Amino acid sequence: MTSIQNVNPRVRAIRVSAQTVLQSRAEQITQEIIQGAQKPFEDVIDVSSGDSHRAGMKPVSFIRQVLAVCLHPELLEDHSLPLDVRLRAQRLLQACDGESVGSYTASSGLLHVRQNITEFITQRDAGVPANSNNIFIAAGTQRALMVVVKLLSRGEGQSQTGVLTPLPCPHTLPALLDEAGVTAVPYQLAEEQGWAVDVKELRQALRASRGRCEPRAIYISNPGNPTGHVQDRKSIQEVIQVAATERLLLLVDEVYQDSVYGPNTQFVSYKKILFEMDQEFRDTVELVSFHSLSCVSVGECGLRAGYMETINMDPDVMHFVDTMLCTDISTPVTGQLALDLMLNPPKRGDPSYDTYIQETLFTWTTLSHNAQRAAEVLNALPGMSCQPAMGGVYLYPRLDLPAMVRRQAGMQEVEADVLYCQKLLEEEGLLVGAGQQGGAAGSHHLRLSVLVPPDMLEKVLSRLCSFHLRFMNGHRSLTGKDQKENPDGVVISGEGKTFSSSVHRMEDV
Ligand SMILES: Cc1ncc(COP(=O)(O)O)c(C=O)c1O
Repeated sequence: MTSIQNVNPRVRAIRVSAQTVLQSRAEQITQEIIQGAQKPFEDVIDVSSGDSHRAGMKPVSFIRQVLAVCLHPELLEDHSLPLDVRLRAQRLLQACDGESVGSYTASSGLLHVRQNITEFITQRDAGVPANSNNIFIAAGTQRALMVVVKLLSRGEGQSQTGVLTPLPCPHTLPALLDEAGVTAVPYQLAEEQGWAVDVKELRQALRASRGRCEPRAIYISNPGNPTGHVQDRKSIQEVIQVAATERLLLLVDEVYQDSVYGPNTQFVSYKKILFEMDQEFRDTVELVSFHSLSCVSVGECGLRAGYMETINMDPDVMHFVDTMLCTDISTPVTGQLALDLMLNPPKRGDPSYDTYIQETLFTWTTLSHNAQRAAEVLNALPGMSCQPAMGGVYLYPRLDLPAMVRRQAGMQEVEADVLYCQKLLEEEGLLVGAGQQGGAAGSHHLRLSVLVPPDMLEKVLSRLCSFHLRFMNGHRSLTGKDQKENPDGVVISGEGKTFSSSVHRMEDV
């Protein structure tokens, strides 16, 4: 392969997202700072993805300690480590071939871990049974999803597989669908209803797609990335009914199931709801549910492990899921073991229990507090409005940008939100997500993860507010509804870096 012409055209057609370009620029700026370049900020802060460890959140000690022992079994004799850590490591090592994390596993994952996953699911879903034959471990949810979408992918043009995808959707999804060779069929989420799934929109998107592609699946992110919406029972039932009548496979990304913090809101799995429905649904609707080690409570994104559970899937098709996973030979074993530890943590009375509870509670309260704090601050800004998040790690505020910005962006052939993010990065060293037409036509949005240490959130908000006010003031004078006042009657102003909001006061950091 000597030139770009030799690269598979399908790969060349994968859209390079605006996010990828911003990400590269952020890395470049970091390098420039290391090499001594003078910038108006000391570092680049990246809150465009939900990688909490990168943002400074701490790993769960129990998981890291057990993994440390598994990687270096001499530590089994180290009595400074809690007894439950050593016992668990011993049990996990026994589950590995050759009692080593260095050996391959079955392509669908270690049976011991898959069995523990079924126990977790059964407990989560109040007794709905699960079967380890329906569990497939992969090197991350992204990989598992790719395997299923590739299995569905067929046809060209009008007969090409279509996958209904929410708008907005996880920023990594469009490239995955491109690579798998399927057509994304966007269905609009209802921003004013906190980004709820509107089945009328779903059906409308389905109708509009006929003749353009062959819709074969619905992708759902619940709790929502990037919206923070959490579906209730009724909404889930409605989606299941659409899937049933239209004979569509449900791909349900439930990786943020452990991070629901909205008042009177709780996570209920699609599987549980399906099993509460009539037999005609229970026995027929095909569902694949995804969960990941990259979820909130442990955030071990880099260890790369996730699993999918298939429901009502033809065993012959499942055989091909396994065949496709065989191309990976094996999912990283440390990731598989971490998955086991995540889903089967220390129990009350175990030596590691208190620390485990303290650490995971800290993560959860940080997330919940940050989400509320950030939404309040962002909602106080002119030209910005943010639906409250109920779960997940992102806020997805709407930007109402002045016409002048949209014209400038048009001249530079970028979207107005991308222009905003480029300038935010250059002027304040803050990287947030952009580049998705997520709301009503013409509106723009930003994606920012709030799963960061509280002091970092303050830095993020300070940089964002400071830039936003400067940017908006630079492109128009604030008048009428663009002015938002705090209770002190002080109009928010872009002068300097001090910002008074209705609830808090932030100083330059
Ligand atoms: C909705 C959603 N699905 C999947 C993933 C990726 O999961 P994994 O790291 O297991 O591939 C993420 C990112 O964390 C996500 O936000």
